[in-house]
Amino acid sequence: MAEALEMQTLMTGNTEVDERLGRLIGGFEARIAELTRELERERELMAELVARVERTQSQLLQSEKMAAIGQLAAGVAHEINNPVGFVGSNLGSLASYVDRLFGLLAAYEQLEQALPPGHPARAAIATARDAAEVDYLREDIPDLLRESADGLTRVKHIVNDLKDFSRSDAGEWQEADLNRGLESTLNVVWNEIKYKAQVVREFGELPKVRCIPAQINQVFMNLLVNAAQAIETSGTITLRSGASEEQVWIEIIDTGKGMPPDVQARIFEPFFTTKPAGKGTGLGLSISSDIVKRHKGALEVFSQPGEGTRFRIVLPLHANEAEQQPAGT
Ligand SMILES: Nc1ncnc2c1ncn2[C@@H]1O[C@H](COP(=O)(O)OP(=O)(O)OP(=O)(O)O)[C@@H](O)[C@H]1O
Ligand SMILES: [Mg+2]
Repeated sequence: MAEALEMQTLMTGNTEVDERLGRLIGGFEARIAELTRELERERELMAELVARVERTQSQLLQSEKMAAIGQLAAGVAHEINNPVGFVGSNLGSLASYVDRLFGLLAAYEQLEQALPPGHPARAAIATARDAAEVDYLREDIPDLLRESADGLTRVKHIVNDLKDFSRSDAGEWQEADLNRGLESTLNVVWNEIKYKAQVVREFGELPKVRCIPAQINQVFMNLLVNAAQAIETSGTITLRSGASEEQVWIEIIDTGKGMPPDVQARIFEPFFTTKPAGKGTGLGLSISSDIVKRHKGALEVFSQPGEGTRFRIVLPLHANEAEQQPAGT
């Protein structure tokens, strides 16, 4: 309307001039519309770029966090190793000393039997033995020592798993035993799982796979934590693996709540989460799928709402070209 009025005021009354004026103004308008469209396209491009930068930044943060956790774990494992070592050796000595003391005690008991029944020392010894509950100690001390040794063995396993999980060379391409990687990652996240799920292992024999173990462990960790979080109160997580000539596969199967198709369609999107704020960032699966792609493999999902979910990682055995990509890309 304003433009029409403006046109009116510009009209000269000379038809030829007015027509040229009209064409000129029409041309300007078309050019302005074109510029507006271009601007709009640029704005969309910018928004997409900003989103991509944000995504990359979060992924970087996540991998930095993983690296920091790895270093922390390696440090803790190293520090725990020393005391575990001397507690273990002390326990061994203690067991043999206690054996010797019980042997001595048996000898004294024979001596006690040899004393005449009315001897005052005999009554005193009997009283002291009752007060010390020697019979109970004889039973309980070996049990305590055995349990302590078992506990210590468990600590040793956990420390080894932590060390495995965060080996300083784990961020490089190397030949790795994926069953072992899965097992040590399971132990690292055991706390998240143990109250909710029993774990069933159906490991097949796997050849060593050329991969970046720290990253593959990160995939295992994300899938294991997701599986545990999908189980509300109690369920089962099954770990399966197998190999063919060309590839190895690993499955993490849970009896949790499963996913409807609309959720399944979006799970690999960065920041897609159905978990409450503070519980999930929605990055676990997008990072995992990037890692598996970097290894020239595939991350597949099969899920039934109310029944559970199966994630399957397939990695090629002979994907040398994958190695040409640096670890951090
Ligand atoms: N095993 C599973 N069972 C059911 N739903 C799952 C399972 N694994 C993933 N999901 C769904 O996929 C979504 C995305 O998973 P993803 O691991 O990427 O993010 P998250 O677990 O929500 O958060 P984060 O891993 O960053 O802590 C989850 O919020 C959940 O809805
Ligand atoms: Mg997750």
